[in-house]
Amino acid sequence: MTQPSIAHPLVALRDVHLNLASLAGEVNVLRGLDLEVRDGETLGVVGPSGSGKSTLLMVMSGLERPTSGSIMVAGCDLAGMGEDDLARFRRDHVGIVFQSFHLIPTMTALENVAVPLELAGRPDGFEAAAEALERVGLKARLDHYPGQLSGGEQQRVALARACVTRPKLLLADEPTGNLDGANGRAIMDMLFDLNRRLGTTLVLVTHDDGLAARCGRLVRVEDGRIRT
Ligand SMILES: Nc1ncnc2c1ncn2[C@@H]1O[C@H](COP(=O)(O)OP(=O)(O)O)[C@@H](O)[C@H]1O
Ligand SMILES: [Mg+2]
Repeated sequence: MTQPSIAHPLVALRDVHLNLASLAGEVNVLRGLDLEVRDGETLGVVGPSGSGKSTLLMVMSGLERPTSGSIMVAGCDLAGMGEDDLARFRRDHVGIVFQSFHLIPTMTALENVAVPLELAGRPDGFEAAAEALERVGLKARLDHYPGQLSGGEQQRVALARACVTRPKLLLADEPTGNLDGANGRAIMDMLFDLNRRLGTTLVLVTHDDGLAARCGRLVRVEDGRIRT
C-alpha cells in the first residue's frame, strides 16, 4: 500500500531560486533550494546569518515569489496562484511568526490575535483570541498595545496570532529569540504540544540549541540552499 503522506509531502520546494535587486546589484538569495517537509513533522532550520532562512519561510508562505522553481504546499502550487488566492491559502493553512513580529501597532494584543479569526469569519474571535493569549501567559496584557509590551511579550502575541487558527503549517522565525529561559521553554512546550495534539507541522528557524534539539529533523541552510 502506498503512503500518501510520503508520496505527497505537505511542503515540496524544487530548485527554488530567488534573485532580488539591491543597491549593490542583484543578490541571489536562494540558489536552487530543494526541501520536503512531511505532514506532521517538526523541522528545525539552522544556518549562518544571511544564508536565506527567513527568505525560505517567506517563499514557503507565498509572501515572496521565487524567480524560478516550484513550491507546493498543502496541495497548492504557489507559483501559479494570484495574490487573492495566496491570501486565502495563508488564511486557511499557514500561521507565521516573523522575526520582527509585524503586530499592528494601533490594535491591542487581543485585537491583533483576533484578526485572523475575523478574516476567517469566526463568530467567537475575541473569546478564542483571549484564550490563545492566556496560553502564552499574557492574560493580564489583553488590552495593551504592542508599544506597551516588551520584545518578549510582543513575540508571544505574534505566536498566539499564528497559532489561534490552528493552521496545518506553522512557520516561525526564531520563535524563542527574545525570550528568557522560562518563557522560552513555555513557548517551546506550546509549539510541540500543538504538533502532538493537532498534528501541526512545524518549521522553526532557530539559533537556540535547546529548540533545535527538540525538532524531529534539522536542516542547514548555507548560501541559499540546503546543505546536504
Ligand atoms: N529585500 C531584499 N533585497 C535584497 N537582498 C535581500 C532582501 N532580503 C534579504 N536579502 C539578502 O538575502 C540574504 C538572506 O537573507 P535572510 O533570508 O534574511 O537570511 P537569514 O534569515 O538566514 O539571516 C541576505 O544576504 C540578505 O541581505
Ligand atoms: Mg533571518
